[in-house]
Amino acid sequence: MNDDFLPIQGTDHIEFYVGNAKQSALYYQYAFGYELVAYAGPETGVKDKASYVLKQDKIRLVLTTALQEESPIAVHVSKHGDGVKVLALWVEDATKSYEETTKRGAKSIHEPFTIEDEHGKVTMASIQTYGETIHTFVERTNYHGPFLPGFIEKKGTGQITSTGLKYIDHCVGNVGWGEMNTWVDFYEKVMGFNLLVTFDDNDISTDYTALMSKVVSNGNGYIKFPINEPAEGKKKSQIEEYIDFYNGAGVQHIAIATDDIVHTVTELRKRGVEFLYVPENYYDDLLDRVGHIDEDLQPLKDLNILVDRDDEGYLLQIFTRPVQDRPTVFYEIIQRKGAKSFGKGNFKALFEAIEREQELRGNL
Ligand code: FE2
Repeated sequence: MNDDFLPIQGTDHIEFYVGNAKQSALYYQYAFGYELVAYAGPETGVKDKASYVLKQDKIRLVLTTALQEESPIAVHVSKHGDGVKVLALWVEDATKSYEETTKRGAKSIHEPFTIEDEHGKVTMASIQTYGETIHTFVERTNYHGPFLPGFIEKKGTGQITSTGLKYIDHCVGNVGWGEMNTWVDFYEKVMGFNLLVTFDDNDISTDYTALMSKVVSNGNGYIKFPINEPAEGKKKSQIEEYIDFYNGAGVQHIAIATDDIVHTVTELRKRGVEFLYVPENYYDDLLDRVGHIDEDLQPLKDLNILVDRDDEGYLLQIFTRPVQDRPTVFYEIIQRKGAKSFGKGNFKALFEAIEREQELRGNL
């Protein structure tokens, strides 16, 4: 069946609006092993903002900061803290992507426009998704510049080595009470995505907090967006804590794939990335639960890496602490060995770990 009205090749880039892009760019280089590849700002004729483009294998992050008080970027950072503004999707036809989605009800943020420089041309268009987050369709057929027209090549001056991060596996959104189905409908009807899985509060609840989640995916499966909403529990849901501090819906975590999680997490820890702590007794019955795995148990235990199995195989995963002071955006590092799921067997251990931190912040 070939009726995909919105074919997507993958994630083009993720753009964060941050308070200090120069310093964030160093954090992503030194802590996560990204390479600085491009820049736009006052030196390149952009007067109101500065953007740094970081790359590791197929992942491209853009860090943008405002240079003026009245900039919408400054307003965004004041309201949400550092956070994801753009989930950019790589498409073959940005104009058609925009037309197909807006005619199905997507709210337009930017009509299709083409920019060019000596490296070629790129066509882009943007639509609204949850909160103040947007999707930008990027059509970059035969563009050979470092990022987009207007950006110059820029290299970091320090010694940076990769940590083995490969590509974006999935991006999770947190939305408000009762809004999950609205956004699942949006992805199904407006973007042509399919509902992959549903988790209710029986799957995802601890003694204290609960949440519900549905995962939507595009036709070829390259794009997977789980959408969470808070559910009633004895205490405040971690999703509610996020919504309180982000002041609304937004991206909760970005999962990045590696093909050697032990190496990647060893490197990330050495460079100062902080991870959630899961108690040692998690490992007591791990092999009974997941069966044979290729990895030795001890390094997984030492690094606090979690394992889960589904019908198709298993996966290894770990979650960072939030990467800014507000308890909002964090990262997941994931290695899939056949499994296509999201680590349901780890939800309880994981949410208890988050609750311990919520309690330390006084928000449980
Ligand atoms: Fe995840």
